[in-house]
Amino acid sequence: AAVTYIEHNGKQHQVEVNDGISLMDGAISNMVRGIIGECGGGLACATCHCYVDDAWIERLTPPSDTEKEMLESVAAERRPGSRLSCQIPVEPGLDGLVVRLPATQF
Ligand code: FES
Repeated sequence: AAVTYIEHNGKQHQVEVNDGISLMDGAISNMVRGIIGECGGGLACATCHCYVDDAWIERLTPPSDTEKEMLESVAAERRPGSRLSCQIPVEPGLDGLVVRLPATQF
C-alpha cells in the first residue's frame, strides 16, 4: 500500500509498504526520519509514535490496552491520532494512508 509519512518539518515521503509490514518497519526500511523503533516492534519503547491523519483514525484497528498504556509515555505531545506505528500492520485497505511524525521520540 502507498503510505505517506510527513516529517514534523513538512518533508513528505510517499513510499510503498508491503502488506503485513508495520508502519514502523515501513518507515525504517525507507529511511524515513522521525521514527526510531528502538525496541523493534516489541511495544516497549514508544519511539515509533506517529499521528494518524484524521481521515484514517477510524479505519484502523483500535489500539490494544498495552499500546494505550505505552502511549502515555510518548516524548512528544499526545494527540487524538497518536498511535505506535509498530502496532499498525499495513494492509490493502490502508492504501493512501497518511501519518505525521513528531519532532522527537525521546
Ligand atoms: Fe518500540 Fe513500537 S517500536 S513500541
